Amino acid sequence: MSEWLVYRGIGDPEPGRMDSLLPAPPKWRRFDGDPLDGVYEVPVIDSASERRLGKRPPLPTQDPRTVELVNAALYLRRPLLVTGDPGSGKSTLAHALAYELGLGRVLQWPVVSRTELKTGLYQYDAIGRLQDAQLNRNTDGTGAGAGAGSAHDVSIGQYIRLGPLGTALLPMRRPRVLLIDELDKSDIDLPNDLLNVVEEGEFGIPELERIADRPGQGTVDVLTDDGLRVPVTGGRIRCHAFPVIVMTSNGEREFPAPLLRRCIHLHLDPPRGDQLVAMVQAHFGEGAEETNEDLLALFTTDDTGSPRPSDELLNAIFLTHEVARPGSPRRTELARLLMGSPNSGQR
Ligand SMILES: Nc1ncnc2c1ncn2[C@@H]1O[C@H](COP(=O)(O)OP(=O)(O)O)[C@@H](O)[C@H]1O
Ligand SMILES: [Mg+2]
Repeated sequence: MSEWLVYRGIGDPEPGRMDSLLPAPPKWRRFDGDPLDGVYEVPVIDSASERRLGKRPPLPTQDPRTVELVNAALYLRRPLLVTGDPGSGKSTLAHALAYELGLGRVLQWPVVSRTELKTGLYQYDAIGRLQDAQLNRNTDGTGAGAGAGSAHDVSIGQYIRLGPLGTALLPMRRPRVLLIDELDKSDIDLPNDLLNVVEEGEFGIPELERIADRPGQGTVDVLTDDGLRVPVTGGRIRCHAFPVIVMTSNGEREFPAPLLRRCIHLHLDPPRGDQLVAMVQAHFGEGAEETNEDLLALFTTDDTGSPRPSDELLNAIFLTHEVARPGSPRRTELARLLMGSPNSGQR
């Protein structure tokens, strides 16, 4: 019963499975934005993903339930809401998905209490545009503003930059991966605001909608979160393939029921046993689990009662490898310093 799995959680890239296995979306999740071709060239792996995932394979074996829920979200074109303790691998899951499915750089949207929906969609630098127009007037002396061939092009698209969510909603044939990280840190309105955009798969940029009927302004090039230029027509962006959205939460607060209903909820347990071993191998190479058996044991015999973020183990292995190799009297002391610090579980 595993033939339906597009994402298998094996750690090797299998981009073909997206095209050959993933069926068309259900009727209620079909979006009809005109596809933009040839804009985004997919790298094999992005550096941010490489930092997270280490060398691949091996990848910490993911349990079948996790893999099935990820696939359910892919089939249903619904966001994944990933909960779990800090360090359980929530954010890294987005990178593992992008790498394995060949979907390119993860669009990352870290959420803090001040984050508003609009910053995820786009930003308009009105002041920069004004300053450039001013500079133009000063340099060409005519006060005519920007025309073709003027010193600074102040056409509006140059000053509009799509955020990670706005970029994810561009009408691509293959979906992008969007990581909305630590959504539970947001203010009370963000989850609901987000819900509307995620349901509709589209949004408007009022600065462009206002001028869309002026001659030559119907289609404007804007910047994406990847720093590329894409044309936007009529000031609206409507998706084609619904993005693979991974929203993470450390469980600091509850989400509104309508949001929960529209997401696929996945709870990640902290990596243990062979998952930890595979993670150590991914970051430090095979054999590292044996050299660092003592640190693995120290990490897993928990004296605080709550699970520790796996970063602490990775940090301890790195540091002791540099300054206190096996046999060194300072090794355990140093490792203890990093593991079970008062900040454990606080990120
Ligand atoms: N699949 C994986 N492969 C390699 N390393 C991983 C994997 N999952 C998690 N890690 C490592 O574990 C650490 C914690 O993962 P992270 O995704 O930041 O946790 P969370 O977002 O739940 O706090 C990271 O340093 C990451 O490199
Ligand atoms: Mg995280």
